[in-house]
Amino acid sequence: MKTMLKGKHCITLQDWNREEIETVLDLALELKRQKALGIPHHLLKDKTFFMLFFEESTRTRNAFEAGMTQLGGHAHYLTPSQTQIDHGEGPKDTVEVLARYGHGIGIRNCTLGVGNRYMREMARWAKIPVINMQCDIYHPTQALADILTIKEKFSGDVKGRKFVISWTYAPRYVRPLSMPQSLVLLMSRFGMDVTLAHPPEFKLMPDIIKQAEANAEAAGVRFEIVHDMEEAFKDADIVYPKSWGALMHTPVEREALDLIEKYPEWVCDQRKMNLTKPWSIYMHCMPADRGVEVTEEVMDGPRSVIYDQAENRLHAQKALMALTM
Ligand code: CP
Repeated sequence: MKTMLKGKHCITLQDWNREEIETVLDLALELKRQKALGIPHHLLKDKTFFMLFFEESTRTRNAFEAGMTQLGGHAHYLTPSQTQIDHGEGPKDTVEVLARYGHGIGIRNCTLGVGNRYMREMARWAKIPVINMQCDIYHPTQALADILTIKEKFSGDVKGRKFVISWTYAPRYVRPLSMPQSLVLLMSRFGMDVTLAHPPEFKLMPDIIKQAEANAEAAGVRFEIVHDMEEAFKDADIVYPKSWGALMHTPVEREALDLIEKYPEWVCDQRKMNLTKPWSIYMHCMPADRGVEVTEEVMDGPRSVIYDQAENRLHAQKALMALTM
């Protein structure tokens, strides 16, 4: 267990070693237990966490905000238009000032080529920890909740499990790459064999694939990329089917939306779930396009752990804040 995490930024879990991540997960479980028992745990009494959102959120925002209340502190919800950011105030001036008032800052900025750079610039100047609440490349707090959920569902026995992250057909808007990228990077580090499935145009960032291959090699596990959803699902222990954009193929939104229409059969349904192991679990970070990318039967079925997964956002984020702030 690592105890010297005060002030550590969390922009990607690639910057956190396994022992540090396990420390967050241990504390998350302890805080989950205490909440269930009604035991107060005001570990961040009188402290403030700033949440700067360039895009909207249900889970991330409310898990951080409720989490800060439960830790005895307070969370401020900020947007560019409610601050001077929309008038051009840059990351250095914003974070230098906010650090004089509070104790941590989270940022969500998913604009491709902008979001991660913005938060790294903030972290360069920040005297308080910077937490990535999702950017164009990573979504570390969702990935923390996901590994916590997998460990719970398999009683800690995750080594050698087949973890599948698959693209799905969800036509309404272009989703970021941050979720599949965080998953392919993290799951092999916990000893799982990782299969990434997507149609050819829906590649992840080449640098992320290189890092994922290196992580898998270091862990002695398999990392494979396939272009067939059914092949991927075969004998899986964990399936995580969700949509993302063809952002590495085209920067034009209309073209990216048209590409989705080529693959309407990439849907998670019971027939595909039947290809997985009998004890497999279905995961989704949500929001899910109900009845489109996944059938209601699967989403509400016995394999689905989506609400436990969403709950774990709260416990994992509380642990992350308590250890770093
Ligand atoms: N999974 C997730 O990040 O959800 P929100 O966009 O609602 O925060």
